Amino acid sequence: MHGSATAPSNIALVKYWGKRDVALNLPSTGSISVTLAGLETQTNVHFDRSLAEDAIVINGRDVPAQSKRVGAFLDLVRQQYGTRLHARVESTNNFPTAAGLASSASGFAALAVAVDEALSLDLGPEALSVLARRGSGSAARSIFSGFVEMRPGEREDGTDAHAVPLAGPDALPLRVVVAVTTTRAKKVGSTEGMQRSGQTSPFHRAWLSQVKADLVALREALDARDFDQLGRVSESNALRMHATMWASVPPLIYWNATTMAAIQEVHTLREAGCPAWITIDAGPQVKALCPPEHADTVATALRGIEGIEQVLTLEPGQGARRGTAA
Ligand code: PMV
Repeated sequence: MHGSATAPSNIALVKYWGKRDVALNLPSTGSISVTLAGLETQTNVHFDRSLAEDAIVINGRDVPAQSKRVGAFLDLVRQQYGTRLHARVESTNNFPTAAGLASSASGFAALAVAVDEALSLDLGPEALSVLARRGSGSAARSIFSGFVEMRPGEREDGTDAHAVPLAGPDALPLRVVVAVTTTRAKKVGSTEGMQRSGQTSPFHRAWLSQVKADLVALREALDARDFDQLGRVSESNALRMHATMWASVPPLIYWNATTMAAIQEVHTLREAGCPAWITIDAGPQVKALCPPEHADTVATALRGIEGIEQVLTLEPGQGARRGTAA
């Protein structure tokens, strides 16, 4: 009873920040992301009669907080699919874990696909997306290639809360230049952060209604292949999410001084005629969105900023798939 899978990360252009149901991990709103080639998790799962408990190894060692989440996901799988077997899970990321590079997205998408194979569940893509969502909301999107929309669904049981593909990886020529400002793990995870914003930020309600308008504008940008509109909507959506976070009590400030320097650098480039826009998740890394022919200029400028540890240029890519071969 073995399954293996490879799943990519994704970056949200219209973000998810708020849950309508914490237990079922149901988002309050939709979101739109682009699946990224190059940032991947590879996962092997063995359900084994001889195991008295789950054994979870992430990047060659046990990461207690992550292992707890993986264990809870396996409990859910056992309950839902009627097995009592424990599992050995070995998962490797080719990028820093939990530092705002969406390791939970690739991690739980890979786990869902590997579990599907190991237990011969034969779930279709939407059901895989529903399963991945139980591990992490953004993981539901990493099942699919290219530009992807998460549907928040209406049903109480969450069976209609899954992602759908919007457009293939080549629909709109795009590069995502990631500036890593620190590889240290963040202090407040997204579930706790979303709850804090929902309960204490006076801007949260305005944020949720803004997302609805941004989803429409971003779909339009994709239909019209309009990069500038995609960039403008993505940047303002990310900054409004961070405004909501900052207004939470206690405040959620995921940025550091280098994050701010990178934002300013991208704005300076744009004023000089380079079409680049930023987006930032619940972490300190800055992701610049630009057409492919501007990616080198953007990467070189970001590399010149003191404090930036690494700059990666990524392109839209394929969704989760079976197997761990390169
Ligand atoms: O999927 P989670 O629980 O890690 O939350 C993701 C939250 C953001 O990255 C900030 C936004 C998003 O839509 O990916």
